[in-house]
Amino acid sequence: MGIETSCDETGIAVVADGTRILANEVASQIAVHAPFGGVVPEIASRKHTECIYQLTERALETADVQIDAIAATCGPGLMGSLLVGVNFAKALAFAWNKPFVPVHHIEGHLFSVFLDHEDVDWPFLALIVSGGHTLLAQCDHPHEYRLLGTTRDDAVGECFDKVARLLDLPYPGGPAIQSLAPAGDPAAIRFPRGMSDSGDLDFSYSGLKTAVLYATREGTHCQADLAASFQAAAIDILLIKTQQAIQQSGAKRLVVAGGVAANALLRDRLNAEIDIPVHIPPLSLCLDNGAMIAAAGDSRLRHDLTGDLGTTPTPNWPLTAVSAPNR
Ligand SMILES: Nc1ncnc2c1ncn2[C@@H]1O[C@H](COP(=O)(O)OP(=O)(O)OP(=O)(O)O)[C@@H](O)[C@H]1O
Ligand SMILES: [Mg+2]
Repeated sequence: MGIETSCDETGIAVVADGTRILANEVASQIAVHAPFGGVVPEIASRKHTECIYQLTERALETADVQIDAIAATCGPGLMGSLLVGVNFAKALAFAWNKPFVPVHHIEGHLFSVFLDHEDVDWPFLALIVSGGHTLLAQCDHPHEYRLLGTTRDDAVGECFDKVARLLDLPYPGGPAIQSLAPAGDPAAIRFPRGMSDSGDLDFSYSGLKTAVLYATREGTHCQADLAASFQAAAIDILLIKTQQAIQQSGAKRLVVAGGVAANALLRDRLNAEIDIPVHIPPLSLCLDNGAMIAAAGDSRLRHDLTGDLGTTPTPNWPLTAVSAPNR
């Protein structure tokens, strides 16, 4: 069983052999946080508490199998939200006398490619693009990752959300910008491609966000042109850095995961322009869910990376230390 409560989605899933989804319940809190333009941590943890029991009952009923182990996201994420899932998982593990498996949220996103998907062989290069992360990592073996580059400021998903606010579009910004963009001209405004010539594999999105702010103040561009031009620049940066990473690392395959991997322009461009095999999870598994946590948990269990009742959430758990959760 996989339990995800790191941010504003409560996800409970049952997965067999780390690959077959038997049940996957997700309760999104988008409507609750939308009026605030972003996630309110205190509200998020209360909402997890309200729905986690019911979701779990539903997942167990749908899956209708014996549970072997309970995995939960231990970090990174919001402390109040992580505590709900981790304590719930530990209580189940104690009651059922089964192993408790702590999972790193970004490692969960990575493992979403192994779900209901063709075989993906290790090693691979990973591009993780989500609300809180933008990073390139060399993934040589399960649970052993080398960070090649990360964002120096905003994450790409965060940038979509902030730009959507500037354009008076609803939260979350990614889907809102993606639906408005086709009505605009992506070449209308030439926004900066931050750090594309920096020589390293780091990202920067704050300059792009500021450039959109200045363009909105000019008042001469329509919303659709702003959305299309912004999306073109944001996705271009990802393609440029990924190409550079493939060249530098000699990677033979690419895995792309995280909420922004749901973006249609990114998916199309990756498939058209990257000349090594590209693995992207289906749309339904790009956003936070319990199935990806169960998939990563299954592998951790096989590699003896379990926790116990003393394991605590780690809100800033680094990807480079996934095999060492807090105690
Ligand atoms: N179609 C899309 N295009 C661009 N961005 C999108 C799209 N769909 C979702 N997003 C963005 O994905 C982000 C949410 O992804 P996800 O749920 O993986 O992030 P998170 O869990 O909040 O952060 P993290 O995984 O880094 O802890 C939001 O910023 C949202 O705007
Ligand atoms: Mg996420």
